[in-house]
Amino acid sequence: MKKTNLIKTIIISAVVLGEIAVWSFPYDQNPYLGVTTGGAGNPASVVLNENSGNQKPTPDILENPKEDGKAVDDSQEKPAEGTTQTVAKKTEDAGVLILVNKNNYLDESYKPNDLEPIEYFAGDRSAEARFMKSEAADHFNEMMLAARESGYEVVMTTAYRSYGFQTILYENYVEKYGKAEADKFSAKPGYSEHQTGLAVDVTAPSVDYALTDAFDQTAEWKWLTENAADFGFVLRYPKGQDDITGYMYEPWHFRYVGIDAAKTITEREITLEEYIDK
Ligand code: DAL
Ligand code: ZN
Repeated sequence: MKKTNLIKTIIISAVVLGEIAVWSFPYDQNPYLGVTTGGAGNPASVVLNENSGNQKPTPDILENPKEDGKAVDDSQEKPAEGTTQTVAKKTEDAGVLILVNKNNYLDESYKPNDLEPIEYFAGDRSAEARFMKSEAADHFNEMMLAARESGYEVVMTTAYRSYGFQTILYENYVEKYGKAEADKFSAKPGYSEHQTGLAVDVTAPSVDYALTDAFDQTAEWKWLTENAADFGFVLRYPKGQDDITGYMYEPWHFRYVGIDAAKTITEREITLEEYIDK
């Protein structure tokens, strides 16, 4: 064999063996998928989806969904006439207190008209989701900067998620966990407040950038819960409020509601549903 052919053969064999080594692990436990977090702040090398020891589903696993995901068959889920489900007003009409939950949904076509980039993000997640509505983005970027000035590195994983993104995400969760389990922590397309551009999932290097209950044991989370209201954000799905919010505890999911509402909601320890019903 010629020397150049021999070298080519060695290189191709090495690549093939490497691919086998990487893809022989389940995606969500794959120790080889090293990624780099980006954005302002301190870029850091992390391992995507390394098992954090959390036994519950870890929603970040699929937030970088496959492009070839099948469309969700939600034919059973469309609101029937006479039910309490209503189309939420667009955020442009309803303002920052828009309520999107299991009873209030958004049209498939709805996309906020003033999305702005978030500067602090985990670089391994979808770039499409690094946006929020202008007012929320400004306040989130300010909050991230303030956290850093206090010595805490916090980043977002996804904020604005299109109807199509949520479709792929939800469909992947259903496939992985079954519909009943998925419905506890993932909104069906049209029913996620991520589509409003006012919601954001946050995490930190101290939990390997995972979306995990363990986040609430970190100093970064403590800082967030003590300071988020000053920037107009609230913890949207508090512990033990599933009956009201429709979703299990999510220490990573924050929602922009404006500073006045955020302070009231936080001080009274109530949900957005209860605040809007006030
Ligand atoms: N995890 C929240 C409920 C969502 O999917 O929007
Ligand atoms: Zn979220």
